[in-house]
Amino acid sequence: MDELHLVELPASEQSLLLEVGALRVRAWAARSPEIARKSVWLDEFDGVGRHFVVIAGRKLIAAARVSFHASLASAPDPQDFVDLAPLPSPIASFNRLVIDPDYQGRGLSVRLVEARRLAAEQAGCRCAVISIWPEERRMQRMERLGFVRVGLTRVYSSMTYGPAARFMVMTRSLIR
Ligand SMILES: CC(C)(COP(=O)(O)OP(=O)(O)OC[C@H]1O[C@@H](n2cnc3c(N)ncnc32)[C@H](O)[C@@H]1OP(=O)(O)O)[C@@H](O)C(=O)NCCC(=O)NCCS
Repeated sequence: MDELHLVELPASEQSLLLEVGALRVRAWAARSPEIARKSVWLDEFDGVGRHFVVIAGRKLIAAARVSFHASLASAPDPQDFVDLAPLPSPIASFNRLVIDPDYQGRGLSVRLVEARRLAAEQAGCRCAVISIWPEERRMQRMERLGFVRVGLTRVYSSMTYGPAARFMVMTRSLIR
């Protein structure tokens, strides 16, 4: 079994973003036919966000993004936060956590949350926000990492996430 290395994707190696985009498709394909049709899944925040990845040997097996924002309106998926009171800024938005199905169940999600939390604190962010599938086990894991449940998003019909998707918004204060 290859050793696992968690690193931040250097800005100079943006070509690796294509691999991140391909991993996102592999991790989501079973859940979203729309994503399954893509070869890579990238968006406009990938160029400005910071990416943390896990490498096994030469293979990219996990990835997650954090981006920094002055308000929730400029964060990814702003529709998730329309019912949320303003948060202290700068705000760190955690998105696009994916783990290769062969490597799930080893705690990599915890390591990727912690790497992003540290980066956000070092960048001077005052809070972190995430919206996740409301799976009890995953929400409890985030609570163990200091996040609190704020509430469910409105139901929205999306090609990407299904006809009646709702997410749990969770936030965490950060140390400055
Ligand atoms: C969401 C996703 C990243 C989570 O994967 P996961 O397997 O649940 O997460 P991990 O690989 O970190 O595994 C966590 C489990 O590893 C186990 N584990 C083993 N060693 C561990 C360690 N050292 N530390 C923590 N957990 C460990 C625990 O059982 C833990 O589960 P628990 O905290 O509920 O007890 C993955 O399912 C995925 O890529 N899904 C598709 C994309 C997606 O849905 N992204 C999120 C959108 S909201």
